[in-house]
Amino acid sequence: MSRLVVVSNRVADLRQATQSGGLAVAIADALKAKGGVWFGWDGNTLENETEKLGIDRVGDVDVISSPLTVEDYSQYYIGYANSVLWPLFHYRVDLVDYRPQYFEGYMRVNGKFAALLKPFLKQGDMVWVHDYHLIPFAERLRALGCRHKMGFFLHIPFPPADIIAASPNHAYLVEALLQYDVVGFQTSTDLNNFNRYVEENIPDAMGADGVIRCGGRTVRALRLPIGIDVAQFTELAEKTFEDINIDHMRRAILRQRQIVGVDRLDYSKGIPERFEAFSRMLHLHPELEKTVTFLQIAPPTREDVTAYAEIRMRLEGLSGSINGKFGDIDWVPIRYIHRPVPRPRLAAMFRSSEVGLVTPLRDGMNLVAKEYVAAQDPADPGVLVLSQFAGAAEELEDALIVNPHDTEEMGEKMELALRMPLEERQNRHARLLDRVKQSDVGIWMETFIDQLEGAGGADSVAA
Ligand code: G6P
Repeated sequence: MSRLVVVSNRVADLRQATQSGGLAVAIADALKAKGGVWFGWDGNTLENETEKLGIDRVGDVDVISSPLTVEDYSQYYIGYANSVLWPLFHYRVDLVDYRPQYFEGYMRVNGKFAALLKPFLKQGDMVWVHDYHLIPFAERLRALGCRHKMGFFLHIPFPPADIIAASPNHAYLVEALLQYDVVGFQTSTDLNNFNRYVEENIPDAMGADGVIRCGGRTVRALRLPIGIDVAQFTELAEKTFEDINIDHMRRAILRQRQIVGVDRLDYSKGIPERFEAFSRMLHLHPELEKTVTFLQIAPPTREDVTAYAEIRMRLEGLSGSINGKFGDIDWVPIRYIHRPVPRPRLAAMFRSSEVGLVTPLRDGMNLVAKEYVAAQDPADPGVLVLSQFAGAAEELEDALIVNPHDTEEMGEKMELALRMPLEERQNRHARLLDRVKQSDVGIWMETFIDQLEGAGGADSVAA
């Protein structure tokens, strides 16, 4: 079987587990199980260019990482990746801050990373590139003569052609995607959006069999929802539950319930709307005062991007005013934590919370939704309230599905979740857990690799 080389913007520290979900955790779980190479940015920035590659072996995984220069960080990571592609792909054209030097930085870093990885590639390796930071990676690697099988998985949404068109580089981005042998998307909406773009903009490329053929290459685009390591996360929740059981018992005695939300502090996550909905619920159901607390964990992220600084201020103001309006000396309605919480503790908090609130305005998948389900006690499970705009909603139909823009409806669904009878909670949870298991990260990874192995790459390295 071919060796797997994973490329992603960030490489996680495989020795510790404090990340709050998302791509890094999924890749770490997958690679640990299979071994191979993981290449990406080491998270550091340096004033000047140096060839300071970090090479570390953890279990069967070689982790190769490189710093970015300050200029690369600001043009590639803060600039094109997170001020252009992130808002654009999350349907937020209003937040796109396009500058030509951002795109130059994006291309430069993709080129540098490709050149840094090339000497480590062996004949027969399969290269699997992840996410929007590295769309041009295959095109750059092929320009250096590499003819390996290459796959790409987009962890965030792929929006309709009209939205993509807002980026001056949209034609290049799609052509660059067509340099991969396999391109994976989270949902059928994403896949359909991509296919439609190809049909409308690249004449005769789309075959009747759904396979794309262009420039002498064959590209297979597929939908493959990412998942979590279900058994591992359930075990984590059971084991660490003891840790916070005292808090749980205290709440049980006081008959106080807990709604939990865990998200990077990102404008795509719909956190202010969630706060508004909670406030709306308290307004419409005064009998709930002092009986329920909303715990929102929102660690900081990408703070050098203006839109993120703004969302932080908005949230602090909102939680302050809701607590001021409804709170009392013995009750704080919203507990808002703006720092990272280790995963084992998160798992336990999911298990001890009666409602899990996952209400992004737009999200590729949202693994927190799946983690919340996996963490529950099947005998007395909590209720998942899920946005229709999270990729996870395509699979998790048995959650209480909400439109996050409709804060009134969201407030009502929260209230409904709080008083859902045990039998209905058990039935819904059993069906949700089934679905979460169907897209376990192991299955996700194996399926993608099978597709890549079966693809028609030239499978050798040119000189
Ligand atoms: C999302 C993206 C990932 C990214 C993660 C954390 O899940 O899809 O690619 O790594 O957010 O964001 P950060 O900017 O801190 O890497």
